[in-house]
Amino acid sequence: MQQLKINYTENGYGHAVLLLHGFPFDHAIWHGQTEALAKSGHIFTIDLPGFGTSQPLPNESPATIDMYAEAVARWIKAHRRRKIVLGGHSMAGYIALALARLHPEMLRGLILISTRPGPDSEEGREGRYKLVTRVEIEGAQAVADAMLSRLLAPATLERHPEVRDRVHDAIMRQSKEGIKHALVAMATRPDATPDLKSITVPTLIISGTEDAIIPAGDAELMRKRIPQATHVPIDKAGHLPMMEAPDEFNQAVESFLAALP
Ligand code: MLT
Repeated sequence: MQQLKINYTENGYGHAVLLLHGFPFDHAIWHGQTEALAKSGHIFTIDLPGFGTSQPLPNESPATIDMYAEAVARWIKAHRRRKIVLGGHSMAGYIALALARLHPEMLRGLILISTRPGPDSEEGREGRYKLVTRVEIEGAQAVADAMLSRLLAPATLERHPEVRDRVHDAIMRQSKEGIKHALVAMATRPDATPDLKSITVPTLIISGTEDAIIPAGDAELMRKRIPQATHVPIDKAGHLPMMEAPDEFNQAVESFLAALP
């Protein structure tokens, strides 16, 4: 695969930390982290291929999670980062786990946010393909309709309508092509559970206690299987704890970075 044009941001100094957004967003979900965490690390964010202003994956073959992981690995190498703390939110947690399997030597640490190691159920997979068909016709609006109400905790929706608006806008600016590639890649992703025991780097797992997308047991399953893992549940946050509870989120990441060798 050729080197894709990848949009990125960079702030601060210290341990290199690359934050990867989930589906169907772009680097803007890290708005509350890029500067706030810059005193604790050299914080990079990118738009994954096909999201934000990054070039999409090639169309020749169906997109896979490993293709995203290889695109991220190329970006890390091209930016001369030898070892990085990789943070992946949700779909990007699937990508981070794939990168940990494909290029373990690139990692200094892992941050797994609102994510899970297992594959889709048959029903989940069918839902993705139905959404692909709707996206062909309606574009990003189909995804906003399907997901928006489940992304945020009730307390966020009630007290922070501006967060809901930012999430809505982030979904609506994504392209049909980027969304469709990601849906197909998620639908066909392999089970990463057997690989968890081989992760040798310190790992921070963050979850929202009111996440309606990722089942509550997945964070604890990862904590138990990954040898050096800690789990920080964030109370009253949904699927986007970095936006819903940025102070608690940042505190968890800062403590993790401060304890890294
Ligand atoms: C995400 O936030 O990246 C997705 O909701 C994950 C998924 O649908 O499995």
